[in-house]
Amino acid sequence: MKAVIQDRYGTTEVITVDDVPNPVPADDEVLIQVRAASLNGSDRENLAGRPYYARMAGLRRPRDPVPGSDIAGVVVAAGASVTEYAPGEEVFGELPGYRGDLAEYVTTTPKLLARKPPGLSFQEAVAIPQAGGIALRATSGLRPGERVLVNGAGGAGGALVIGLARHLGATVTAVDRADKADHLLRLGAEETIDFETRDWTAHLDRYDRIVDLIAHRSPYRASRALRRGGTYLIVGGHTRVLLATLTAGPPIRWTTGKRVEVLAVPQSRSSLEAVTALIADGSASIAIDRTYSLTEAHETFRRLVSGDNRGKIIIEVS
Ligand SMILES: NC(=O)c1ccc[n+]([C@@H]2O[C@H](COP(=O)([O-])OP(=O)(O)OC[C@H]3O[C@@H](n4cnc5c(N)ncnc54)[C@H](OP(=O)(O)O)[C@@H]3O)[C@@H](O)[C@H]2O)c1
Repeated sequence: MKAVIQDRYGTTEVITVDDVPNPVPADDEVLIQVRAASLNGSDRENLAGRPYYARMAGLRRPRDPVPGSDIAGVVVAAGASVTEYAPGEEVFGELPGYRGDLAEYVTTTPKLLARKPPGLSFQEAVAIPQAGGIALRATSGLRPGERVLVNGAGGAGGALVIGLARHLGATVTAVDRADKADHLLRLGAEETIDFETRDWTAHLDRYDRIVDLIAHRSPYRASRALRRGGTYLIVGGHTRVLLATLTAGPPIRWTTGKRVEVLAVPQSRSSLEAVTALIADGSASIAIDRTYSLTEAHETFRRLVSGDNRGKIIIEVS
C-alpha cells in the first residue's frame, strides 16, 4: 500500500510517499481502508519535532514514520475480540499517539472510533476528531453572555472553538493574522485581533475565558486579560509556557482569583460523538481549507507549514 513517510524531524523535505507492507490487525484492532485523513497543528509540530513535547512520539526520530492522526474510512477486517464494528461499517476518529493515518490502510483500536453519520461525507467527518475534542473541552461550562478570547483561532482547531462558544451564547474575540480576519468573522467571531500589530494581553480584566491554541506569553501576563473568576486554558504552544503554567497556576489563583491551566484533552469516542451531533444538527460548523490527494503529500505539508490554511487541510486517500 501507499503511505506518507516522515522518518525524521525536519522541514517538508523529509516527507516522502512510499510503498510499505499492508498492516495486519491484532486481535483487539480493526483494519480500516482510509478514505480521508486531515491535518492539525500537532502534525506541523510532529514534523518539526518542536515544541519538544512533540518528541514524545520519539526523541531522535518518530517511532511511527507515518504522520497524521484524524481518519475516516471503512472497516475491512476486525480482530477476533472486536465486537463494536464489523467489516463494511463507516467509521472516523483519532489514532492513539497522534500518528499513523496517512496511509491507504490503518490498524487501530476501535475504542476511539465512532460511526460516521450518513449525512456527513468522509471529508467532512475527518475534519472533526482532534479539533472537536479540543473545542468541546475548551468551551465546557461556558454561559450565555460570557466573553471568550481564542488565540490562534485561524488554524485547524479554532473554527470549532468559535462555533461551540457561540452555540453556548458566548461572544468571541478571535486572534490570528490580519489576513484571516474575514474567515474568523464568517465563523462567528464578533471581533478579531491581528497578533502582529495588537497585543490582546493589554485588554485588562476583560475575558471570562481565554483559549490559547498557541501560547507563547508568560501566564502572568496572559492572565491580566481575564476577569476575576475567569479561566485561561492553554491547549498548545511553547514548552516553556506550558511548564511555567504548571508552577504559576496556583499562585495566580491565590492572588488574583483567576484560573490558569494547561488543558489536557483525552482522546475519546464520547467527546467525538457529542461534538459530531452538534455539527450534524447545525449548531456548529467545520471549516475546510483545501483537499489534496495522498500522493500530493509535499504540497499538503507545505500548505500546513505555510500557515496559509484557514481551517482544516483534508487528504483524500482512496
Ligand atoms: N492539550 C491537549 O491535550 C492537546 C491535544 C491535541 C492537540 N493539542 C495542541 O493543540 C494545538 C492545536 O492547534 P491547532 O491545530 O488549531 O493549530 P494550528 O492549525 O497550527 O493553528 C494555530 C494558529 O495560530 C496562528 N498563530 C501563529 N502564531 C501566532 C501568535 N503569535 N499569536 C496568535 N496566533 C498565532 C497560526 O497562524 P500561522 O499558521 O499563519 O502562523 C494558526 O492560524 C497544537 O499545539 C496541538 O499540539 C493539545
